[in-house]
Amino acid sequence: MKQDQPRPTPRAGIMDIEAYVPGKSTAPAGVTKVYKLSSNENPLGPSPKAIEAAREVAARLDVYPDGSARRLREAIAEVHGLNPANIICSNGSDEILGLLAQTYLAPGDEAVFTEHAFMVYKIYIQAAGAKPVAVKETDERADIDAILAAITPATRIVFLANPNNPTGTYVPFQEVRRLHAALPKDVLLVLDAAYAEYVRRNDYEAGIELAGSSENVVMTRTFSKLGLGGARVGWMYGPAHIVDAINRVRGPFNVNATAIEAGIAAIRDRAHIERSVAHNEKWLAWLSAELTGLGLRVTPSVGNFLLIHFPEGKKHSAAAADDYLSARGYILRRVTGYGFPNALRMSIGTEEANRGVVDALKTFLKS
Ligand SMILES: Cc1ncc(COP(=O)(O)O)c(C=O)c1O
Repeated sequence: MKQDQPRPTPRAGIMDIEAYVPGKSTAPAGVTKVYKLSSNENPLGPSPKAIEAAREVAARLDVYPDGSARRLREAIAEVHGLNPANIICSNGSDEILGLLAQTYLAPGDEAVFTEHAFMVYKIYIQAAGAKPVAVKETDERADIDAILAAITPATRIVFLANPNNPTGTYVPFQEVRRLHAALPKDVLLVLDAAYAEYVRRNDYEAGIELAGSSENVVMTRTFSKLGLGGARVGWMYGPAHIVDAINRVRGPFNVNATAIEAGIAAIRDRAHIERSVAHNEKWLAWLSAELTGLGLRVTPSVGNFLLIHFPEGKKHSAAAADDYLSARGYILRRVTGYGFPNALRMSIGTEEANRGVVDALKTFLKS
């Protein structure tokens, strides 16, 4: 078709968006065994109960799901001690982050996040026509004072990933409370607690209490890091007026029947969640120590992944390490787009994968 013919054009700003690049899932040709360590999935896989629930629902896939995902909201509410009316379920927590931007941002508005924050915030802010404002971090951690200094009369949302991806660092909850106390009441604080289950720190909270007692705070969560990444189940907890607004904007059947049934079974399978968290605790500590022992700097992580920094110079760069590991079937995540051109993010894997990466890096660094 000729270029000069009229054709539909996206709204101003859409073509400025840099599309999200997911973690790789394939290894170079010839590699037989692949260890996918690029998307922070659960190395123990889905809950066996969720697998069974998904199998059972297969025979009823002709029927529309419950548009309000009531039973899933009730199951989440039961486990976390919440009112199901204050929960919205979503197609992964990505969806709810997008809905929040779509509902609360307009052209001319600003939304704040930190420089190495999870990348979808910027995408959704731009997609809503608003201005993304990235603020500096301190020691690869969100800096509450820097966030507060970036607030202007145009600010409508602050997105805080706690813990953050890809750094794995977290903000103690008293700092989150300080942020909230200093924010104007009409600015929405989004506490993205995608990795909350994995955090083992006394001064950490996901934000349930704050979201339950404030008019301008929501907490978002996901099932993806506990074994249901492929099913796409996320949720938000927040005040009734925000739930009401989002319910007007979201798709009427945004959570599919398989996701609902697998989600209900997964959240009730506490034993599987505990096993996953215990596995993570053990291997996160092991990997941090081993990698540090190899002379690599590792950002202190409380999530189910690690950010590994490589030495200056081409020979042992992150790009070279990525090629070396991929050729042996270990697929890690390049994080150049997150402002870390010389680092790789590694999901905590199975024992075999974790030991394999350390052994491979040992040889790589000697080469
Ligand atoms: C900080 C953070 N928030 C949200 C998500 C979205 O997860 P999902 O859409 O799978 O629920 C991720 C996934 O990587 C994440 O790292």
